[in-house]
Amino acid sequence: MKLYDVAVVGATGLVGRKMMQVLEERKFPVNRLVPLASERSAGKEVRFNGKAVKVQKLEPRSFEGVHVALFSAGAGVSKEFAPHAVKAGAVVIDNSSAFRMDEDTPLVVPEVNRHAIFRHKGIIANPNCSTIQMVVVLKPLHDRFGIRRVVVSTYQSVTGAGQRAVAQLEDEIAGRPLREKKFPYPIAYNCLPHIDVFFDDGYTKEEIKMKLETKKIMEADVEVTATTVRVPVLGGHSESVNIEFEKPCTVSEVRSLLQRAPGVIVQDDPAKNLYPMPLNSYDKDEVFVGRIRKDETIPSGINLWIVSDNIRKGAATNAVQIAEALIAGA
Ligand SMILES: NC(=O)c1ccc[n+]([C@@H]2O[C@H](COP(=O)([O-])OP(=O)(O)OC[C@H]3O[C@@H](n4cnc5c(N)ncnc54)[C@H](OP(=O)(O)O)[C@@H]3O)[C@@H](O)[C@H]2O)c1
Repeated sequence: MKLYDVAVVGATGLVGRKMMQVLEERKFPVNRLVPLASERSAGKEVRFNGKAVKVQKLEPRSFEGVHVALFSAGAGVSKEFAPHAVKAGAVVIDNSSAFRMDEDTPLVVPEVNRHAIFRHKGIIANPNCSTIQMVVVLKPLHDRFGIRRVVVSTYQSVTGAGQRAVAQLEDEIAGRPLREKKFPYPIAYNCLPHIDVFFDDGYTKEEIKMKLETKKIMEADVEVTATTVRVPVLGGHSESVNIEFEKPCTVSEVRSLLQRAPGVIVQDDPAKNLYPMPLNSYDKDEVFVGRIRKDETIPSGINLWIVSDNIRKGAATNAVQIAEALIAGA
């Protein structure tokens, strides 16, 4: 079996550490792991396949001999260093927003548009976490009923804002002085309808990402309007999703389509209080869906509730799935 040299940029972060865990769990054929981070973490050790590996400072020459480079250290780092990785011959799978909307960069969720991977010109983008879990559910429904419009409100885990955000929540709950201040307001016992920066029209960048990325991944004119909210939760992102269809549909048709959809688990039995929750999705790869109900206010529509671990399917697992597809070939 061919083995690959794999770099993880942001190896000390929430997503980078999970990427190494997922590479190990899924037995990705790694020859040499190259964990990269900033100067702050150079020399620290991470564990991979039972061995301690030293974290190196990210530099332009870090990618010599690397076949696959998983980037997860923010858009600025990706913009500066991904071209060096490509020049060294690596394929970059980038978790940041740096290249997602570039025409030449495929934006991929393997359950939805695996074919797009093979059009890459050195960089493949991993979509925004909130978008990934939503399109895995939308895709089979769009194929069957044609989606006209989606209205989504998110309830996003603090893990989506990195380890400084988790530290702020933990310190606020413990009532101790803050080690970090990631959010402009307290996040414990609070909700912030504010993820990423605001635009002049009042929407946030996270909301616009959900709108634009959905169309690109699904290769369809599916209209999305979003309200994205940070909540004091750790296990995963939740989404309340209202979908309007072109064709008639029933709740039982939707449920049975989703039961057969790749990467989806239906948890929907109100009589037994069964519905998806972030506590239960933590460290799982699947997208969980429940609370499937008819929207009585339009000719054909449903409401549902989607939950997934944003660090797994929303980031690390999706990136490793792309790498697996890449080495498996078209
Ligand atoms: N969290 C999510 O749900 C999620 C989902 C999808 C995508 N993403 C994206 O993934 C990226 C990382 O997220 P995260 O949650 O893992 O953040 P995090 O926990 O704050 O970790 C950030 C990582 O980036 C490294 N880093 C920061 N500045 C660097 C620099 N100048 N050079 C090299 N490395 C640098 C850090 O290294 P040091 O230890 O040296 O500081 C650390 O390893 C972001 O772009 C984020 O938007 C996150």
